[in-house]
Amino acid sequence: MDLGLKRKGAIVTGGSLGIGRAIALGLAREGVDVAVNYRRHDAEAKEVVAEIEKMGCRGLAVKADVSSYADAEKMVAEVVEKFGHFDILVCNAGITWDGVIWKMTEQQWDQVIGVNLKGYFNYNRAAALFFKERKYGKIVNISSINGMRGKFAQANYAASKGGEIALSKTLAKELGRFNINVNVVAPGMVLTDMMKNIPPEFQNIAMAETVVGRFATPEDVSHLVAFLCSDLSRHITGEVIKIDGGQYI
Ligand SMILES: NC(=O)c1ccc[n+]([C@@H]2O[C@H](COP(=O)([O-])OP(=O)(O)OC[C@H]3O[C@@H](n4cnc5c(N)ncnc54)[C@H](OP(=O)(O)O)[C@@H]3O)[C@@H](O)[C@H]2O)c1
Repeated sequence: MDLGLKRKGAIVTGGSLGIGRAIALGLAREGVDVAVNYRRHDAEAKEVVAEIEKMGCRGLAVKADVSSYADAEKMVAEVVEKFGHFDILVCNAGITWDGVIWKMTEQQWDQVIGVNLKGYFNYNRAAALFFKERKYGKIVNISSINGMRGKFAQANYAASKGGEIALSKTLAKELGRFNINVNVVAPGMVLTDMMKNIPPEFQNIAMAETVVGRFATPEDVSHLVAFLCSDLSRHITGEVIKIDGGQYI
């Protein structure tokens, strides 16, 4: 199915690895020029750009910590200048730093909220300013089922992921009249590096919770995101779509 995304321009935060990488490549497969933000993995980010270019699209890697608002505005300006268009934002960069509340430090709280929640505010706001003028835009924010149900030892992460949902629903209300869709994709367990931080006993519990008996691949998530970035989903906004193999029914 042609999603009608050829020659659109996108930013994907946290595009060097895992789910963000799959989303960036999935969009390029649909003909989208994609700029990936990342913070640490230079070689991996370059490789993603090379893959994007191999598919005949323009690619750009921008190294910046998503917790800086100034860097978010700079990246939007750079993408507009280099691609000449900017239509899609996928906020995906995220971290975990787990601990039960009686052991969680202020630093653990601030760091996770700073990247996951403030980072999403930064890129959503910088993109919204541009999309609002153009009266067109698609925003997809990658949250987590743990932002909907809470999770043992993840007060900071679950709060940030729940906050992303509230942010997205609010922006859907504010930006709908400007022809901007804002949706949330909430995965359950996905096979990426982030999952490696989770002790095997917790992974087993999560696996037992699924009704399909497997975890998602990053590509499972990227297919849904590409659809939400297209006009085929133009009447969907303010939604939270779980992609979790039934983990949280
Ligand atoms: N994996 C799961 O089971 C799962 C489940 C539900 C939701 N999610 C959500 O899906 C998203 C992606 O997760 P993932 O599993 O793909 O994680 P991952 O493999 O650890 O990749 C995280 C990505 O975020 C980037 N990143 C981290 N901190 C950053 C910062 N401060 N500034 C810019 N980029 C930063 C990383 O780039 P560098 O390493 O290059 O800095 C990397 O590209 C996250 O929002 C996560 O909460 C994941």
